[in-house]
Amino acid sequence: MLWVGTSWKMNGTLGFARDYATRLAKALADGAPSGVQPFIIPPATALTVVRDCLGPDSPVLLGVQNAHWEDAGAWTGEISVPQAAEAGAALVEIGHSERREFFGETDATVNLKVRSTLRHGLRPILCVGESAAVFEAGDSVEHVLGQVAAALADVADPSRVVIAYEPIWAIGEHGREARPADIAPVFAALADEWGDRVTAILYGGSVNPGNAVDTLRVPGVDGLFVGRAAWTIDGYLGLLDIAAGAVAQVA
Ligand code: 13P
Repeated sequence: MLWVGTSWKMNGTLGFARDYATRLAKALADGAPSGVQPFIIPPATALTVVRDCLGPDSPVLLGVQNAHWEDAGAWTGEISVPQAAEAGAALVEIGHSERREFFGETDATVNLKVRSTLRHGLRPILCVGESAAVFEAGDSVEHVLGQVAAALADVADPSRVVIAYEPIWAIGEHGREARPADIAPVFAALADEWGDRVTAILYGGSVNPGNAVDTLRVPGVDGLFVGRAAWTIDGYLGLLDIAAGAVAQVA
């Protein structure tokens, strides 16, 4: 199964969410392409709108971009995993590099959030990835394996976890597109250590229609976690088509 999804990050009005989700529901009225698991991670404000526009039988999994590890309490500005679940989330994105860099997310808080997410029966999308300096020093594999080990410490059963490898140097408008050779060693190591134990291992960082096919061919890549290229519904549907084509080629 190839997982193909997007986080809208801090983008999108309710009107945008309604339009995007309505068009997605129409495009997937007969189900997702065979072998493809779509997912959308809107801002939390738009989650129920997206859920309602997609409808109860949608194959699209929804998520939140962050959740606190406690179930409730005096944590101003946070939302909890049960709150996210009630609003329609099946996925909780945890440890994105933007949260680690700008919001003080650490391996320790990532671990607490992973465990809360699993305790409530949701799936963590655990984001890991190295900086340009670590990449240039040739330490990507060690860094990423260390992040995953820390995030999954004391997790007895990681089988519901989705790992997203997103090298920081490849993310966003200042990122550079990764070549398959850049990311292959990390995927080889992740697949070797975690491939049989987690749900899927995704790649994220400047994914676009021009590099998606080559990225999906990297051994160990089970899908794509997309930002900018999926922030229009046509962009997202195009990437779902590319993934469907990749599934068909392998079959
Ligand atoms: P871009 O695809 O815009 O580089 O963002 C990737 C990402 O951070 C997905 O979580």
